[in-house]
Amino acid sequence: MRDDWGYLCVLLLLFVPVGLWTTRRRSSKPLPGPKPLPIVGNIRDLVFEHECEVYARWSETYGDLIYFEVLGQPLLYVHSSEAAHDLFDKRSSVYSGRYITPMMKLMGLADWPLVIMDYGSLWKKHRKIFHQRFEPRRAAEFHPLHASATARLLQNLAKTPEDFYKHYRHMAGSVLIETTYGIKVDKEDPLLSLAEEAIQAFSDISKPGAFFVDIFPILRFWPEWAPFGSFKKQALSWRQMLKDLREIPWAIVKQRLGSGKASNSFATSMLTETIEGEITMTEYDFQGAAATTYGGTYLSRLDPHCLSLTTTFTLAMMLHPEIQKKAQEELDVVIGRRRLPQLTDRPSLGFCDALLKESLRWSPPVPMGVPHLLGEDDIYRGCKIPKGTIVFANTWAILHDKRFFANPESFDPDRYVKNPELPDPKASGVFGFGRRICPGRHLAETLLWLAMVRILHSFSIRTDGDRSECPHLFESGFTR
Ligand code: HEM
Repeated sequence: MRDDWGYLCVLLLLFVPVGLWTTRRRSSKPLPGPKPLPIVGNIRDLVFEHECEVYARWSETYGDLIYFEVLGQPLLYVHSSEAAHDLFDKRSSVYSGRYITPMMKLMGLADWPLVIMDYGSLWKKHRKIFHQRFEPRRAAEFHPLHASATARLLQNLAKTPEDFYKHYRHMAGSVLIETTYGIKVDKEDPLLSLAEEAIQAFSDISKPGAFFVDIFPILRFWPEWAPFGSFKKQALSWRQMLKDLREIPWAIVKQRLGSGKASNSFATSMLTETIEGEITMTEYDFQGAAATTYGGTYLSRLDPHCLSLTTTFTLAMMLHPEIQKKAQEELDVVIGRRRLPQLTDRPSLGFCDALLKESLRWSPPVPMGVPHLLGEDDIYRGCKIPKGTIVFANTWAILHDKRFFANPESFDPDRYVKNPELPDPKASGVFGFGRRICPGRHLAETLLWLAMVRILHSFSIRTDGDRSECPHLFESGFTR
């Protein structure tokens, strides 16, 4: 009898896991997506030009979830607000990781900036400081800074309107540096150049396949002096540049604080305020958090997000003079000609608000979002999504969903006036999803609104070129 029990136990040990494994496999359907090739998977299905539009078209065939595997790396593209909400918001404890490439690690980018950090205790600490400083009530302390930066923008535009792109760029960059460190910068400031260098580095490391080490991580042990070691030299030189980015402005703030000359900023608040909760932060952590706003937002091209929105809005105004006129009429009635619009005017400027929403919807600044990494195997709609999947929210597709937005390609702010219940782009992916949603969104949104209404109040935007000669309005890329 005892022998029979032993035999049964061995059988159970052998077959139960296999049974569970096969039931689990059978119970989960394959995820929809194009058929992979052996070994390389869906490498030929990767799209690098206008991918959000192309994948949105594919979603008409596959549905709102498209799954790929490229050289063993699972990728999932999400195309509806429902699925994005279910995965990123409702299951955010497992859909909040980030994929850090070997090249990023070589550059010392694993423990900062926040946007790149993987989900875990360090990320939680940093996120808490951001929340404490940039939640709407505290972000309001930066409103005077927004007012002066947008007034400076108007002066610059009046002098050289043809350089509008440069002026937008300066406004976004200088606001971020002043918000972070309380340091005023002019156009040629070395702090701006340092941040520009960081943008270039990030743009280089973001190009898929640009560095072999990202495809064959073992190469990270390759010595820099050996043949083909130039990637390692490059990584080390960028590492030094990023160290400067963290340390130089931080040292300026500390010195000013010591001599009582520092203005209120994110950095001074970290140095002088206690952080709520049981959090211990080192100076290195603080430097990284500050540099996340200054360099890191540049670095991850988040500052260009602000820039891209102002540019999108300018393009929309060139293409639609009648919409521009309508917004200017509203400004004339509510504000008049004797003063500039202020943030407090916002509740009375319904059409201008709709204009900002439509600009964000029409061309979201980060059209494919910042990808999240899935931390555990998951089952969704009966399909298994494996741990380690990189999950993209196709924000462009979500904001061009015909079920909500009639003629989604057309620029029509009135859609929000006629139907205020339409999904607001701010809550539908423009600033991301779940626990990783952009902590700078309140700051960014108020600055952009103020810049937009002040430009419309002071100038008329038009082009002397032929408006019909705009076959491709937007370039593809991480930001627009
Ligand atoms: C129009 C302007 C902006 C847009 C469209 C934008 C958009 C985004 C998006 C899509 C993400 C990724 C969210 C996700 O992973 O789901 C993000 C993250 C982030 N943004 Fe923004 N952003 C803007 C401005 C800013 C500004 C001004 C700051 C700095 C104050 C900022 C700080 C950050 C940080 C630190 C993260 C990383 C959050 C994390 O990974 O936990 N952003 N932003």
